[in-house]
Amino acid sequence: MKILVVYYSMYGHIHCMAEAVAEGTKEVEGAEVEMYRVQETLPDEALQKMGALEAQKEFAHVPVCTVDKLAEADAIIFGTPTRYGNMCGQMRQFLDATGRLWTEGALVGKVGGVFTSSATQHGGQESTILSFHLTLLHLGMIIVGLPYSFQGQMRTDEITGGSPYGASTIAGGQGERMPSENELAAARFQGKHVAMITSKLAK
Ligand SMILES: Cc1cc2nc3c(=O)[nH]c(=O)nc-3n(C[C@H](O)[C@H](O)[C@H](O)COP(=O)(O)O)c2cc1C
Repeated sequence: MKILVVYYSMYGHIHCMAEAVAEGTKEVEGAEVEMYRVQETLPDEALQKMGALEAQKEFAHVPVCTVDKLAEADAIIFGTPTRYGNMCGQMRQFLDATGRLWTEGALVGKVGGVFTSSATQHGGQESTILSFHLTLLHLGMIIVGLPYSFQGQMRTDEITGGSPYGASTIAGGQGERMPSENELAAARFQGKHVAMITSKLAK
């Protein structure tokens, strides 16, 4: 079974979460995972002004996804930073290129999940994931979140991302906070959970 982790990251938080999600999938026998980023759509000048050019070098080696890759997968786990409570434009543009897959029903019955990142605790993580789910449902995918069997989402002793909708991290206003151990554990859990359900469906 082939599982894709497809993401966009501007400053590295989602990249870091994506690696943990991929790690989690590998805990399930028979899971083969491939990581892809979606095409950057902003010009270098804008990225420079946003302080993202340097950060993006760290994951420039990750291949850019094509929509055809989606059709080859059994499960796809998407990662996007929050942009005003929604997915980022780069991801939106990528998904808007899946019209042919929609026409062909190529993603119907595949498992899908979403994880995210925002600057602030209440800056739109849940709305980002839930609104992303709409697109996955239109494509006919079976949505998998982060069940409460991941107990780490119950924590109140420290600031943490993670909700029944999916793993998440809080990056801080200046991007100064990297995913915590608990948030990475949530990402690994979601990856493993998606892989386990995909494996059951394959049987
Ligand atoms: C145009 C723009 C809009 C953003 N909107 C929000 C927002 O609504 N809520 C929030 O908490 N953070 C917001 N952020 C912060 C990003 O979500 C944050 O930089 C990102 O999660 C970091 O992940 P990354 O390092 O993978 O890019 C926004 C950032 C940009 C550039």
